[in-house]
Amino acid sequence: MTIAIDRTTTPLDVPSAILQRRAIKTFKPDPIPPELLHQLIELTVAAPSSFNLQEWRIILVQDEEQKKALAAASWNQQQIIQAPVTFVFAAEPFLPDADLSPILDQAMANGAWNEATVNYFRDAIPKFQTAIGDKRREYAIKDAMIAATHTALAAESLGLSSCFMNGWIEDQVKAVIGAGNNLAIALLLPIGYAAEPRKHPGRLPLSANVFVDRVGHSYS
Ligand SMILES: Cc1cc2nc3c(=O)[nH]c(=O)nc-3n(C[C@H](O)[C@H](O)[C@H](O)COP(=O)(O)O)c2cc1C
Repeated sequence: MTIAIDRTTTPLDVPSAILQRRAIKTFKPDPIPPELLHQLIELTVAAPSSFNLQEWRIILVQDEEQKKALAAASWNQQQIIQAPVTFVFAAEPFLPDADLSPILDQAMANGAWNEATVNYFRDAIPKFQTAIGDKRREYAIKDAMIAATHTALAAESLGLSSCFMNGWIEDQVKAVIGAGNNLAIALLLPIGYAAEPRKHPGRLPLSANVFVDRVGHSYS
């Protein structure tokens, strides 16, 4: 995959984007230029996933009526109405009998996986997906969350802001986007231009949650 990075504005480097990103609660109505939005989507799906299964399903909610309905499904959080687009990160768990060809054929054509690797995955993936059983939903959501993190950091790097959102009712979000029972909702991510800055709320000291070798052995 080739991604054309817009060099008219210099993207922030990754550490700066990580440190600068804040959960933005108010957005300007300004639209995101289509080529910038496309770039963001390409950087989102550049995320890694378990066996490269890419179980995320990303729905871009832009229509005014859809935004109102999505906000109503999200405890009336106004970021969704204000932001020009909200990425809904859904996840479709990969079933053991699903067709692996599109993924395996592409990796082989790209020279990334040789025939032995492809044969191994053809056998191992259905076995793995069977073994995790009910956890398939959770595993698909992990992939979608990693993709969403790519989106938020890429957005920050490219001059946009975002707000990770868990505050919504899953069945209502699914009804708004027309999702069936096969989809789980992972996260909502409104994206746009910040109307006002937010201060860093701080983080706990590393001694509270970073350990060495065993839980309880503080890193610092
Ligand atoms: C998974 C997740 C869910 C969140 N859900 C919401 C939400 O529904 N509404 C909201 O206003 N902020 C939400 N936030 C934003 C957090 O409150 C915010 O990230 C946190 O206070 C740290 O601030 P920072 O993102 O500026 O570092 C969420 C953040 C995460 C990571």
